[in-house]
Amino acid sequence: MKFFIDTANLDQIRQAHDLGILDGVTTNPSLMAKEGVTGHDNIMKHYVDICNIVDGDVSAEVIATDFENIIKEAESLAALHKNIVVKVPMITEGVKAIKHLTYKNIKTNCTLVFSAGQAILAAKAGATYVSPFIGRIDDVSYDGVSLIEQIVYIYNLHGFETEVLAASIRHSNHIIKCAEAGADVVTCPLDPILKLLNHPLTDIGLEKFLADYKKGNQG
Ligand code: E4P
Repeated sequence: MKFFIDTANLDQIRQAHDLGILDGVTTNPSLMAKEGVTGHDNIMKHYVDICNIVDGDVSAEVIATDFENIIKEAESLAALHKNIVVKVPMITEGVKAIKHLTYKNIKTNCTLVFSAGQAILAAKAGATYVSPFIGRIDDVSYDGVSLIEQIVYIYNLHGFETEVLAASIRHSNHIIKCAEAGADVVTCPLDPILKLLNHPLTDIGLEKFLADYKKGNQG
């Protein structure tokens, strides 16, 4: 399973990278705005900065919603760096664009996916990744992890090559449940990644090991 960080914050990307477990980055227009990255040139530069930190796939989202402009934007994003994956929304024009970009060998991440039917269309169009937003599904009282299980089942049954990228992760247990469900990738903020480290018995155990070492090695 690959681990992506879902942020445009360079410090947090560096921190996850330094942990040695990071395989890539996902961003979206809201995450870029949260970091105060605005204006075409600054946004492009920020993607390059991210690519210079992490040697792995970096999702950069298009703003256009019509086929022609999605393609134009996608081509200029893909030209920024070899690791850019173009994030395209699950809309009619987006599906057409994914098909076209796949044909042109440009990697895509089909975003804003909330159903198995949408995931089938993304795979048929040849998306590199499909991003079901599990936290947002939980928010409206459905079960996001069940959707991951369903998509993984369908993709395996039919041999679809699109990778299931579990997105909108809210807590560490989401990561574990998505791993169990067979997600190819989880993308999450830094906090749930770091919280995977925590266990009180680890802290108690380490404290005792160090105290016992000290006792045996005094003087
Ligand atoms: C995925 O690629 C999105 O950037 C992200 O996971 C959305 O998460 P949110 O629902 O927490 O905004």
